[in-house]
Amino acid sequence: MEEDARTLFREAEGAIAAAGADLKALDAVRVGFLGRKGKLTALFKRLGTVPAEARPEAGRVLNEVKAALEERLAEAIRKAKEQAKRPKSVLDVTVPGRRPLSGRLHPITQTAMDIAAIFNRLGFETVEGPEVELDYYNFEALNIPKDHPARDMQDTFYVSDEVVLRTHTSPLQIRTMEKKRPPIKIIAPGKAYRCDSDVTHTPMFHQVEGLMVGRDISFGDLKGVLTVFVHQMFGPHVGLRFRPSFFPFTEPSAEVDIQCVMCRGAGCRVCSQTGWLEILGSGMVDPEVFKMVGYDPDEVTGFAFGMGIERIAMLRYGINDLRLFFENDVRFLRQF
Ligand code: PHE
Repeated sequence: MEEDARTLFREAEGAIAAAGADLKALDAVRVGFLGRKGKLTALFKRLGTVPAEARPEAGRVLNEVKAALEERLAEAIRKAKEQAKRPKSVLDVTVPGRRPLSGRLHPITQTAMDIAAIFNRLGFETVEGPEVELDYYNFEALNIPKDHPARDMQDTFYVSDEVVLRTHTSPLQIRTMEKKRPPIKIIAPGKAYRCDSDVTHTPMFHQVEGLMVGRDISFGDLKGVLTVFVHQMFGPHVGLRFRPSFFPFTEPSAEVDIQCVMCRGAGCRVCSQTGWLEILGSGMVDPEVFKMVGYDPDEVTGFAFGMGIERIAMLRYGINDLRLFFENDVRFLRQF
C-alpha cells in the first residue's frame, strides 16, 4: 500500500513536469490523481482492505502523499498563471522606429545665408560685429553727430551715454575700414535694434550690410552689383529701380525698389497699388566717412548698402505678417 502510494507520487511528479505551463494539462493531472475517480482517491478507497493493525500507518502515508501532491500542483499552477500574464516577448522588432524630432534653420537665418552666399560668389567676404555698440561706430563715425536730426529717425536703445544697441549694421563699415586697407568687399549680416513695435516693426530685426571700397568704384558698380543680387534673389525677370534718397553716410544715396513680387508690378495691396517694393538703402560712401577712418577720399571711392532681412524673407516666401518670424510656432517654422 505504502509502496503503491510512493510510486503514484513519482508518476504524478512526472505528469506535472510534462504538463509544464499548460493550465489545462495541469488540471487534467489534478483530476487524474486527486479527483473522485483519481488514482490516489482509489488508493484511499482500498484502505478498508488493509489489516486493522497496519491501517493507521497506511492512512498516514496516503495523507502525506496527498498533501505533497496538492502542494506541487498548486505551485505548478501558480507558475503557469504568472507566465500567462507576462507579455509573449518584451522586444517587438517589427514596431516602426520613432522618428527623432529634427530642427531646421529659421527662415530668417536661411535668408541671411542665401543673401550672403550671393555676395560671397561676387567676392564679398562675410564679417560680423557686436550688437552692443559704441555710439561712435553706430553714429559718430557714420557722419551722424550728437545733434544730427537723423538720430531721431532711429529710435535708439541707449545702454549708456556712449553705448547703444546698434540701430543698423552700418557700424561694420567703420569697424572693417579701421582694420583693413582697400580694396574692401564685405557683407555683414546680423541683428539690429530700434525702440519701435507695431504690425510692421519689431524691436529686434535683422539686416545685411554691404561695403565695397577701392580705386574708381563708381555708382555704376553699385547698380551692377545690386542688379545681380536682385536677379539672383528674386529671379532674372524682376525689375528694379534706384530712387534718390538721403543717408548721412552716403552721397549720393539711393533706395532700391523691386517690382512687386505679388502682382508683378500691376498694383496690389502689398505694394499699396504702386507696383514697387522698397528693399534696401544704398549710396556712395560719403567722403566724411572716409576721413573718419583715415582714408583719402581723393584716392578711394566706394559704395555701401543695407537691407532688412525680414522684409526680403517675407517677399520671398509670401509671408504677410512679420510677427510670425518671432512667435516660433513650429508649425510655421517647419514649412521652410
Ligand atoms: N543703415 C541704413 C538703414 O538702416 C541703410 C544703409 C546702409 C543705407 C548703407 C545706405 C548705405 O536704414
